[in-house]
Amino acid sequence: MWLTGLSGSGKSTVGRALEADLIKAGRLAYVLDGDNVRHGLNSDLGFTPADRTENIRRVAHVAAILAEAGIIVITAFISPYRQVRRMARKIAGPCRFFEVFLDAPLAACMERDPKGLYNKAKRGKIKHFTGIKDPYERPAGPELVLKTAKSGVAECVKSLKNMLIKAGIIKRRSGDI
Ligand code: ADX
Repeated sequence: MWLTGLSGSGKSTVGRALEADLIKAGRLAYVLDGDNVRHGLNSDLGFTPADRTENIRRVAHVAAILAEAGIIVITAFISPYRQVRRMARKIAGPCRFFEVFLDAPLAACMERDPKGLYNKAKRGKIKHFTGIKDPYERPAGPELVLKTAKSGVAECVKSLKNMLIKAGIIKRRSGDI
């Protein structure tokens, strides 16, 4: 499940909530995000277009390997470029791939600013910040759109699980949805 959206749109939060829910239901699930990838495997990469592309290329390969092992992989990266998300889908190969757009207005993400990075970017302290000095290309045909400024985390998790049920990846449990 490829979660894409601006910084502060809720990708990791929603991804982790879904992960916990799936694990509670007895499924293997794992979130890949900046916290566990950019500090280790991708610590040599920054935020130029070339580095973001390489970041996503590596993440997509790791995700495909984990998915082949039967894990429901949830990736939480801005992945701002349409062409690079297309590359990720290609890398997923025979694995099912769901592009999920966390569609929160820039103003809402800036207001939330959980890490204080928008504030820094506005003051010119961070270069290439997505939404400020670098583009975010909205998905053209995502499998699912989550309006995270309007819907709560639980509602988003419900929509994601519904999508997995419809795709036959998880089963509906009584009282679950
Ligand atoms: S991606 O563009 O390569 O997909 P990724 O999701 O890994 O980005 O990392 C985004 C996170 O890195 C942001 O949520 C923010 O915390 C941090 N960050 C640091 N510099 C930047 C920047 N220039 N643009 C966007 N995010 C940045």
